[in-house]
Amino acid sequence: MFKPHPLRSMRNIPSHSRILLAAIILLCLVQTAAAYHTNRYFQNNPNPLPRPVRWGPPMKRDSVPLVISNNCGETIWPGIGTQAGTGAGTGGFELASGDSKSLTVSADWQGRVWGRTNCSFNAAGTGASNLNGNDGSGAACDSGDCGGVMSCVLTGATPVTLAEFDLAGGVGGTQVFYDISLVDGYNIPLQIIYIPGDNPKLQDIPPNLTNCACIATAGLLADPADSGTSGNATTPDKPLPYEPKQDSKSVADWCPWDLQVKQPTKPGDGVYPYPDDNIQRPIFDPCLSACAKSNSPQDCCTGSFNDPHVCQPNLYSKSAKAVCPDAYSFAFDDQTSTFIIPSGGGWEVKFCPPGRSTNILATFKQQLQDLSSAGKVTKQIQEDCMNITIIDESAKKAGAERVRGEPSGMGSRSLGALVVVVAWAVLW
Ligand SMILES: *[C@@H]1O[C@H](CO)[C@@H](O)[C@H](O)[C@H]1NC(C)=O
Ligand SMILES: *[C@@H]1O[C@H](CO)[C@@H](O)[C@H](O)[C@H]1NC(C)=O
Ligand SMILES: *[C@@H]1O[C@H](CO)[C@@H](O)[C@H](O)[C@H]1NC(C)=O
Ligand SMILES: *[C@@H]1O[C@H](CO)[C@@H](O)[C@H](O)[C@H]1NC(C)=O
Repeated sequence: MFKPHPLRSMRNIPSHSRILLAAIILLCLVQTAAAYHTNRYFQNNPNPLPRPVRWGPPMKRDSVPLVISNNCGETIWPGIGTQAGTGAGTGGFELASGDSKSLTVSADWQGRVWGRTNCSFNAAGTGASNLNGNDGSGAACDSGDCGGVMSCVLTGATPVTLAEFDLAGGVGGTQVFYDISLVDGYNIPLQIIYIPGDNPKLQDIPPNLTNCACIATAGLLADPADSGTSGNATTPDKPLPYEPKQDSKSVADWCPWDLQVKQPTKPGDGVYPYPDDNIQRPIFDPCLSACAKSNSPQDCCTGSFNDPHVCQPNLYSKSAKAVCPDAYSFAFDDQTSTFIIPSGGGWEVKFCPPGRSTNILATFKQQLQDLSSAGKVTKQIQEDCMNITIIDESAKKAGAERVRGEPSGMGSRSLGALVVVVAWAVLW
């Protein structure tokens, strides 16, 4: 196998190539940096315990399952980034359609999982293959790429749908904070699934309270079920509250025209198509967030906009929130996007899950808050989660709000308040 000595091989490269190489490395770094916009919780992590980053995998007694599965029709290349604690011992791998991979991370892991699409690596996984004349340099994947290498470190190039976890969040690190983030854009659908662990207080946690999904790709969206439940991902005894309005047509068009990574050209005349044109978009249509595209303080809630009262959701955020009500759409919508549950279970990230986007946070806001403060699943929480009336009423409300042009649940601030309270408790 080709294993260059890093220094010697640099010296052998002619100087113009060296400049090119430096430029490419710089570009990769810039790409990684640009992909690092995040929500407020992950900016101001309230857990003050020092958690050194280790590659992993963790020792057995310290480990939590992290399962990654691919329900997509084609192979994907999941990427894993570790921000704190011990990682899975891999930063990414190839995962064929229908396969799943069981990994472990430490109980205090903080990190993210995303999907990379249409990758083509060299045999060592150290760069792009030469299939398209890339010759080891540049991006190896169509979306989610991390500097062209198989095993990622922190994050992927925008746009990516992220599953974000802090397994030891909150004061004392006794809670799990997790979310689906579209802050960096969207590439493929994903679902986060709770795996019951050995915490006896969480044995009966209703899966419909924890298992959020974001499905914003045409062709992968199930039709709504009869009641307010989530299409194919639902069984009569385990209904998930779902996003009620999208159909396969609307979900194909949600990305603001200029934020599409590959804007389709009008067939025939080659003229830049008017955004409102009724044009067939590609099924796989990665969408940059406004922040990832413009990098402006206004879109990214940085600088003088780093204030929840000042930074407002832009068109992208509103569109993203409408297709994926449970996902983060910009830095400050944590009130409708952060799941907080007591620690003690494991996690699965499933790409291209069946069903529809969920609407759990707006439906079971109160129940999640109760779970968080009680630290266990109460009888009332169980009952509420089985109550179809609650799910249906919330679905109707979400529909009504969207007709008024407001993303669902934007008015509910309680989870955000909880995050703020936690942050305050740490600061004071
Ligand atoms: C991957 O590439 C193939 C061939 O160009 C294309 O048909 C397919 O849609 C691509 N898939 C994704 C997820 O980009
Ligand atoms: C939902 O189920 C139906 C019937 O089994 C199937 O035809 C359809 O492809 C499924 N949709 C999704 C998105 O899984
Ligand atoms: C939610 O999941 C629990 C546990 O599986 C189940 O008992 C309950 O019926 C589900 N919720 C609804 C609304 O059915
Ligand atoms: C379900 O919820 C509705 C609305 O909150 C309530 O009126 C009803 O009593 C609940 N049903 C059950 C069986 O708990």
